[in-house]
Amino acid sequence: MLSVFSGKAAAKASMAAGRKAAILTQQKRNIYRFPLKSDVNITKTGKTKIAIGQGGRSSRTGYTVSVFGGSGFLGRIITSKLAKHGTLVVAPWRNSRSMRHLKVNGDLGVVNYHEWDLRNVQSIEESVAHADVVINLVGSELNTKNFSMADANIEGSRRIAEAAKKYGVDRFIQVSSYNANPKSESEFFATKGVGEQVVKDIYPDATIVRPAPMYGRNSALLHELVPLTKLGGNVLFRQEIYPTHGRQVAEALEKIVFDDSTLGKTYELYGPERYSKRELREMIKYMTHIGMYGYFPAATGFSIPAPRSFMKVWCWLNEKFNPSMESVNMDTYRRSTIDQVIDPSALTYEDLGMKADDLADWLYSYVKPYIISPSQSLNRTVYGRDEVLKLRDYVNTPKNSFDFFDLKS
Ligand SMILES: NC(=O)c1ccc[n+]([C@@H]2O[C@H](COP(=O)([O-])OP(=O)(O)OC[C@H]3O[C@@H](n4cnc5c(N)ncnc54)[C@H](OP(=O)(O)O)[C@@H]3O)[C@@H](O)[C@H]2O)c1
Repeated sequence: MLSVFSGKAAAKASMAAGRKAAILTQQKRNIYRFPLKSDVNITKTGKTKIAIGQGGRSSRTGYTVSVFGGSGFLGRIITSKLAKHGTLVVAPWRNSRSMRHLKVNGDLGVVNYHEWDLRNVQSIEESVAHADVVINLVGSELNTKNFSMADANIEGSRRIAEAAKKYGVDRFIQVSSYNANPKSESEFFATKGVGEQVVKDIYPDATIVRPAPMYGRNSALLHELVPLTKLGGNVLFRQEIYPTHGRQVAEALEKIVFDDSTLGKTYELYGPERYSKRELREMIKYMTHIGMYGYFPAATGFSIPAPRSFMKVWCWLNEKFNPSMESVNMDTYRRSTIDQVIDPSALTYEDLGMKADDLADWLYSYVKPYIISPSQSLNRTVYGRDEVLKLRDYVNTPKNSFDFFDLKS
C-alpha cells in the first residue's frame, strides 16, 4: 500500500516540478525583443530605472517617453513598439479621434493622453513634465490656415525642446527629414534643416533622425503614388528617392531611445535602392492591374501628362486658393525637382546593428490592399521579389512610342 502511495506522490511531485520548470522557462525574458539588456539602468542624469517582467504585456521598462506627433504614420508604430514592453508613453493629442487607437497598444495606464496645442506652452510643459525621453515627430509639408511649415517644423520643435529642457528631460530625439538643409529651395526641407539647428542649440546632445520617404501600411508615400488619375504626374513624380520601411525607422527609434551611445548623433535612415517616383508609379500601375481590362478602372485613366510650365501655374493656383486642403502646392513642385541626397557624415541603420529592408521585398504586400475593384483582381499575379525586379526592368525599358512633347522626362 505504502509503495503505491509513494509512487503516486513521486509522480505528482515530478509533474509539479515539470510545471514549475515550464513556468520558469516561460518567465525568461526574450532578450531579442525586449529593448533593454539589463534590469537596472541608469539614465544620463543618474535616475535609476528598474525593468520588470518577461517582455511584452505586463512588463515595464521603467522609462517614460513623450511622443509628440504620435497620431501620425510613424508615431503610431513607435507608440505601439514602446507600449508593448511597458514603456509609459505620454501621447499629446490635438484630435482625439486620431489618437484613440493608441490606447490598446499597451496595458491599462501605459499609454496616457494629454491634450496639447503648439501655441499653448503650458500644455507642452505638462506633456513633458514626467518624461525621460521626448521624441518629436511633429512635421508638416503644408502651410495651413492656422500653422505654417515654419510654425510646425521650427517653432514647434523649439517650444517642445525648451519645455523638455526646463523639466530636465534626459534625452531629446528630433525626427527631421532627408534633404533637411536650411539653404534648401524647398520650404519643407529648409524648415526641417532650421528645426534641427534650433533643437541642437537647446539640446546639444539631441539625437537627430532623418528618415527617407517611408513606405508601409497607410504611408503618405503610397497614398501619393497609388491614386488613379494624377494631373501632371510626369512632372510631380520626377524626384529620385531611397524609400525606407516605416517599421524599420520605428525600430531604429526604439533602439535610440534606450541606447545612450546615440546621444548627439545624426542618423540618416534610407533604403538600399534608389528609385524614381515615376518608375515606382509605373510599377504600381501594373501591380494593381490598372489598364489591363477594357472597363473600370482602365476607363478612368492613370496619368494625365502636362507641360512643366502648366504644372507650375497649377501648383501656384492650388496654393493660393486652396491652401489647407490641397496636397499639391508650390513646395510640392519644388520638392519634385530635388532628388534625395545622402549625407555621408551621418550614421545609418548599420550603426544601429540593422540591415535596411529592400522595397522589392515589401512593395506588393503594401500595394495589395489598394486592389479593390473586381476587374483588378482578375489578374492573380503575386509579385514576389523576382517579379518586382522584372517589373522594374520592364517599366524602365524604352517603349516604342512617339513622345512629341517629351512629357515622360
Ligand atoms: N512620411 C515620410 O515619408 C517622411 C519623410 C521624411 C520626414 N518625415 C518626417 O517624419 C515625421 C513623422 O512622419 P509621419 O509620416 O509620421 O508624419 P505624419 O503622419 O504627417 O504625422 C505628423 C504628425 O505631426 C502632427 N502635427 C503636424 N502639424 C501639427 C501642428 N501644427 N500641431 C500639432 N501637431 C501637428 C500631426 O498631428 P495630427 O494628427 O493632429 O494632424 C501628426 O501627428 C514628421 O516630422 C515628418 O515630417 C516623414
